[in-house]
Formats: sequence, structure tokens, C-alpha cells
Amino acid sequence: MSTSSSSHPSPLSPERVAALTEREEAAFKAGRRKSYELVKRAEKHSPGGVPSSFQDSPPFPVFIDRGKGSHVWDADGNEYLDFHNGFGVNVVGHANPRIVEAVSLRIALGSHFAQPVEDFIVVAEELANRFGLPQWRFTNSGTESTLDAVRLARAFTGREGIMKMEATYHGHHDSLMVSVEPSPDKMGPADAPNPVPQSEGIPKAIVSLVTVVPFNNLEATEAAFQRRPDQIACIIVEPAMMNIGFVLPEDGYLAGLKEIAHRHGALLVFDEVKTGVTLARGGATERFGVTPDIVCLAKAIGGGLPCGAVGGRDDIMAMISEGRVSQMGTFNGNALTMAASRVTLTEILTPMAYAHFDALGEVLQGGLDSVIAEHELPFHAITLGARGGLTYRAQRVRNYRDYLEIDKSIAYLAWLFQSNRGVLMAPGAEENWTVSVEHSEADVQHFVNNFEAMARELRA
Ligand SMILES: Cc1ncc(COP(=O)(O)O)c(C=O)c1O
Repeated sequence: MSTSSSSHPSPLSPERVAALTEREEAAFKAGRRKSYELVKRAEKHSPGGVPSSFQDSPPFPVFIDRGKGSHVWDADGNEYLDFHNGFGVNVVGHANPRIVEAVSLRIALGSHFAQPVEDFIVVAEELANRFGLPQWRFTNSGTESTLDAVRLARAFTGREGIMKMEATYHGHHDSLMVSVEPSPDKMGPADAPNPVPQSEGIPKAIVSLVTVVPFNNLEATEAAFQRRPDQIACIIVEPAMMNIGFVLPEDGYLAGLKEIAHRHGALLVFDEVKTGVTLARGGATERFGVTPDIVCLAKAIGGGLPCGAVGGRDDIMAMISEGRVSQMGTFNGNALTMAASRVTLTEILTPMAYAHFDALGEVLQGGLDSVIAEHELPFHAITLGARGGLTYRAQRVRNYRDYLEIDKSIAYLAWLFQSNRGVLMAPGAEENWTVSVEHSEADVQHFVNNFEAMARELRA
């Protein structure tokens, strides 16, 4: 794991940032007329002209035509190196020949039966081996995985309360759409934040079951348990927060959470939808050496197909086989998805792939660190496995309240700057990058070169 921060940062000129943003936004729009037309057409039949609100980003969404390896092409024919990778899904790269072969073979034999196929056993065995948890069930998304995890925890403990960290995102079901990015006027005290619904339409009764605590703060967690004795079924946590940039757990924090949860009769759930199989073979569970009671997976495990999974201890998962907890879904363990997942886990994400991610991470970290130091920028970079991010603040971010202090205008400029120079990033200050097995050292150096070009202009 590598991190950096500039030791002598000096502030950037807001006027310079605004002027560069205006210039870059104009260039972005001029080069994406077809995308703009498609958004306008889509708006007639879809809110915001996008299939999911996450795809609705300023100045307007980029429509993608195709991808190959580390590259994607948009509807206007612009070519990019893909650092977005479908919100961290495509660590196998686009149209990976092994995935194409497995999926083509499978679809010719029929893609869906709603009956188990042998591949599902191979995937469950592989996940058990990677995450050290024996029992697995499948879903189609991260949302469904965390939904199942919460239900399992509630059933196992006989309690209804849930504890989550302020600003973690766990998908779009009511129980966890609480305090995802709460507005400062509603969020309450830093050590005992208010539970704030993420959207209209979420029942108050559901919100009131959620206790919100700050990340990286064991004292606040202990105090929250004491305020609600015998009520909390589980702590659910992204072991490294990846929806407010990239926030690492402090030493001993995850082990401390597990100890506190167990002492209070609650379970520890890791939401590894983003970190799973990308930070390491066994995700954050392996990387940070703490095995939770339940792990939620999705995104990268499906090799580009919609796959999720929830794994747990024997005694917890036995509630499913005993019929006490219902875990189901028409497309769970779908034959096409399982074929892609089997190949992803057994043939593509091999130990060599993780060594490759580490090597790319070193180029990124080294390159970004030198640019930050040379231009004395108030930023820092973090790389870990296939993941990484730039945070536009000199000091490390420990939690949501730190994240609020970041100047988001620079994140937008950086996104435009990379887009206009052939790198597609996930939009927003809260996002980070994902590389794939197909990315080369030259690809990641391109990212660093663009960053350096922006740094020079920021300090010009
Ligand atoms: C940590 C985390 N959990 C859960 C989810 C929800 O996953 P999905 O979008 O597949 O439902 C996401 C999505 O970004 C996520 O980042």
C-alpha cells in the first residue's frame, strides 16, 4: 500500500482553477456533440437521459460505443484509456478473450435455467478460498448482497438496529440509504452523526433503525453501542471507504470494530463490493488481515457481467438452509454470469495479475508523488492493488468530515482534463480509478503525464 502527501503545499488560485475549467469544459463539449444529442434523445423516455442516476454527471454523460483491453471509444469516436472501468467492474479489461470465449460457449448452450450449474460450485469454492468464509450465495448486484447481509444479521441476532459509517454507500435499498453524503446542515455532531435519508421515499421508521458513526473512530463506535444496548444486529462497513475518494482504515481499526461488535453481541459485515478481489486476491479481508462474519461482493467478481455474492460463517449461513432466512432471486447463479465469474477468478485474476496491479501502482504512485512534490500541490495519492485515487487535499482523509473540506472544483477540472487527453475517469471527487490486467505501464504513465500537464497549468 502506498500513500503520499506534499509536505509544503501552497494554495491554488481559485481564479486559475475557474479559468482552466471553463476552457476544458468548452473543449469537452465541442468534442462530444453526438453524446449530447443522444442524451437529449434519451431524456424523452428516461429521467436525466441515463439508465442510472450514477451515470448522470456534468457537463453531460458520455455515451460509450465499445471497449477493447484498456481502451474504450465513445459515441463521437473519441478514444480513451479506461480508468473508470465501469465503476471498478472491469479489472479483466474490455472484451477479454477468455471472457468472450467462456460467455460465447455458454450462450450457445443456453444462458438461463434458474437451476444450478456446475460453474456456480467452482465460483463458491474459489470465493471461500479467497475470503476464508465457508458458505456463499449469489445475487446480481452489490445492493442485493448488502440487503441479504443485513437480513442475515438481523435474523441471526434477533435485533433490528444497524450501525453504519457516515458516508459509506452500500447500494440502493432502504435499510442502508442513510447518511450516504448527508448535507452539512442535517448531519449533526461529528462523533454521533444524525441518520439522514439519502432520498425521499424512505420510511422514517427504517431510518430510525440506523445508528451512524464516523469511520476510523473506535471510541465513537463503542459509545454508540452503549447508547443502544442490545439493539444493533451488525456493523456494516466498507473496510476501505471508496465512495468518498479512497479512505484507508487506520492500523488496528478493523480488528477493533470486530472486537467491539462481538462484545456487544453484533456481527461485523464487510461491504467488499468495491474492494473485493481488487485490493488483493481476498480483497480487504486479506489485505488488512481481519475476517468479518459476513462479506458482500459484486462488481469485479463477475468479469463484466452482473454478479453479486454474499459469504458468511457456517452458523450464520445455516439460517438459509434451515429456511429461517429467505435468500432468493430468479437470476442468482445465472449460467452466463457464473461462466464469466469462473474464468475471472480462476484464469484471469491469478497471482500474476495482482503482481501486475502492484507494478502499475508503483508507477502511478511514484509518478504522481513526484508531480505533487515538484509543483508543491496540496494533494495526495493513494494506490492499493488495482485501485487508487488522487485526493485534492494535502492531509490524509480519515472520514466524511475531512472529505467535506476538499475543494471539489479541482476534482471536476481534473476529470475534464483527463477526459480531453484520452483518459476516462469515473466522475466526481468521491470516485477513484481502477486499472485492469490489460493496462500497461505506458497506459498508467499517460495518466501521470496528463496530471503533470494540469499541475504545470495550475501553477503557471
Ligand atoms: C461499497 C458499495 N456497496 C454496494 C454498492 C452497490 O452495488 P450495485 O451498484 O451493484 O448495486 C456499491 C456501488 O457502487 C458500492 O460502491
